[in-house]
Amino acid sequence: MTTPQQVSLDWLTDPADEGHVPADLHPEIPHPARMYDYYLGGKDNFPADREAAERVMAISPMVRISAMANRAFLQRAVRHLAGQGIKQFLDIGTGIPTAGNTHEIAQQVHPDARVAYLDNDPIVLVHSRALLAGASQGTATVVQADLRDPDAILGDPHVRQVLDLGQPVALLLFAVLHFIDESDDPYGLVRRLVDALPSGSYLALSHGTGDFVPAADATKGPAIYRNASAQLTMRTREQVLSFFEGLELEEPGIVTAPLWRPDQPILPTDAETGIWAAVGRKP
Ligand SMILES: C[S@@+](CC[C@H](N)C(=O)[O-])C[C@H]1O[C@@H](n2cnc3c(N)ncnc32)[C@H](O)[C@@H]1O
Repeated sequence: MTTPQQVSLDWLTDPADEGHVPADLHPEIPHPARMYDYYLGGKDNFPADREAAERVMAISPMVRISAMANRAFLQRAVRHLAGQGIKQFLDIGTGIPTAGNTHEIAQQVHPDARVAYLDNDPIVLVHSRALLAGASQGTATVVQADLRDPDAILGDPHVRQVLDLGQPVALLLFAVLHFIDESDDPYGLVRRLVDALPSGSYLALSHGTGDFVPAADATKGPAIYRNASAQLTMRTREQVLSFFEGLELEEPGIVTAPLWRPDQPILPTDAETGIWAAVGRKP
């Protein structure tokens, strides 16, 4: 379980003067990154984010457990991948920094590990850049980019400066694909990214699912996100498995997040978590 870093938005905005909020942060619109930060107990969120997050928690009280289980899976997966010799990470939909970020975990194993962080939310960029100011120069970068434009990601000069796409890379898509609508062809987007990486690369992802809730309840969470800056699309186990077509799944295959190589004796249940998790290797 992680302890969220208690950074606050106070340095961005004086609550007595809403006019100081940079316009592109859109504080009046709930943002998934800031709602997730609120679930994790962080302070990088505005009233609209908290209000939307509270409404999700009212119908799905387990969402906090779920967010923490997802974050813990991310950390175990990055540690595992670094243990497999991976030194390069392409982390898309990275979220607001909290304790135990990808470069911190990877660099515990390989001090020279390199990470490109990408997110389409400007607030993530602001916080990530502040965090990375302390990271060793040249080993990590943060870029504003959209997962729906994989060619822009692959061609981005900052990404190319930090990552050598001729060497194995771990593509990390944690809790981000459920913000990609079917009409944007999420399977094709992932395929395009994986195709650009050499043999020995990995795909690690987590994805929200309605597989463990009654059908009548499965649409309630997504309905709240409908007013947010990105909509939520839950997917079934079969759909999540499709992202790994052509890849070899690492043990234990596709499972709910806490069950992926657990390091704790007592785990949340499938229904409490509601997140599929898997890691696959490109042969
Ligand atoms: C729930 S957070 C996950 C954070 C982190 N990956 C984790 O698992 O702890 C989802 C992140 O995906 C980002 N996101 C949503 N849609 C995106 C898109 N189309 N392109 C890039 N990032 C996106 C959000 O801004 C948010 O920071």
